[in-house]
Amino acid sequence: MRDEGLLTPAATPEDEAMEAGLRPRRMKDFIGQAALKERLAILIEAARGRGEAVDHVLFSGPPGLGKTSLGAILAAAMGAQFRGTSGPALERPGDLAAVITNLEAGDVLFIDEIHRLPRQVEEVLYPAMEDFQLDIVVGKGPAARSIKIDLPPFTLIGATTRVGRVAPPLRDRFGYVARIDYYGVEDLGAIVNRSASILEVDITTAGVETIAGRSRGTPRVANRLLRRVRDYAAVRADGRVDEVVADKALEVFEVDRNGLDKVDRAILEAVVSKFGGGPVGLSTLAIAVGEDPETVEDAYEPFLLQEGYLQRTPRGRIATERAYVHLGVDRDDSAQGKLLD
Ligand SMILES: Nc1ncnc2c1ncn2[C@@H]1O[C@H](COP(=O)(O)OP(=O)(O)O)[C@@H](O)[C@H]1O
Ligand SMILES: [Mg+2]
Repeated sequence: MRDEGLLTPAATPEDEAMEAGLRPRRMKDFIGQAALKERLAILIEAARGRGEAVDHVLFSGPPGLGKTSLGAILAAAMGAQFRGTSGPALERPGDLAAVITNLEAGDVLFIDEIHRLPRQVEEVLYPAMEDFQLDIVVGKGPAARSIKIDLPPFTLIGATTRVGRVAPPLRDRFGYVARIDYYGVEDLGAIVNRSASILEVDITTAGVETIAGRSRGTPRVANRLLRRVRDYAAVRADGRVDEVVADKALEVFEVDRNGLDKVDRAILEAVVSKFGGGPVGLSTLAIAVGEDPETVEDAYEPFLLQEGYLQRTPRGRIATERAYVHLGVDRDDSAQGKLLD
């Protein structure tokens, strides 16, 4: 297996196993995002009051910020079943029809990576979302006929790391599109505290802050770092996590002071050293660091952009002053190097 960056926001199999225990199940356990939670609470209460299914909701935002968790919380709040699938899993209209005809009134159908839904499947989804009707063609050639099936009212919850790739007609059929942003260190600290108590980790306030500050604004990463620090504390210290232990553990796992991991640094180093500070195109950059372009764009870049290490221009990515400072590279020297190449 390739050595993954420790901060990769996408879920690893270990995350998925652990997340079952750490995933917040009720709105009150979901930390931060107060404005978003209030809006969802209003949607839920109003729908319950009318005895209807909640309107369709689309969650967008980088991986690991709580989209799936919110979908499950919403279903639980409605006393509804949560049925999860994903864009790539629904290859043909029949795949969607099979899932959708099994729904019961009020159920939540969760489609992860909804921007990767194939076109023909999307078209079946439109009338299902709008009129709770399934309109599909069965059979082939002269025997083919179109059938209409009435569906029970359900709530579609879509999740996407790329709202720009969701076809506008699909996006327009959601009653509410919610963007989830990176978390501040206080909320991340609360998440680390909550997870530490579930996992029974003995941790000091300074230990919590150290982990929170290096989690790339991402709850999934915070939980993962906590697990790695817990391992280190168990075998290289006395089990207790304080600032020093957290710091040393994160050093061993190559998470730096600003919370960047190996892949983040490889991206910045490539832009600075291989491409003279940029601009460099996404696919060229992705090849240089051995990642696929989608992973770089969805999982790594948003944080590097937000924190001001990279800038996106029409001609490609460029490294900012902050990137040079962080890598300890003198900008003029590297510009000189480019001229001499
Ligand atoms: N607001 C939050 N409060 C507490 N834990 C959270 C929160 N958001 C995410 N998490 C944690 O991070 C993990 C990843 O969240 P998830 O909902 O799977 O993210 P996404 O679907 O956006 O990739 C969850 O299992 C949960 O442990
Ligand atoms: Mg998810």
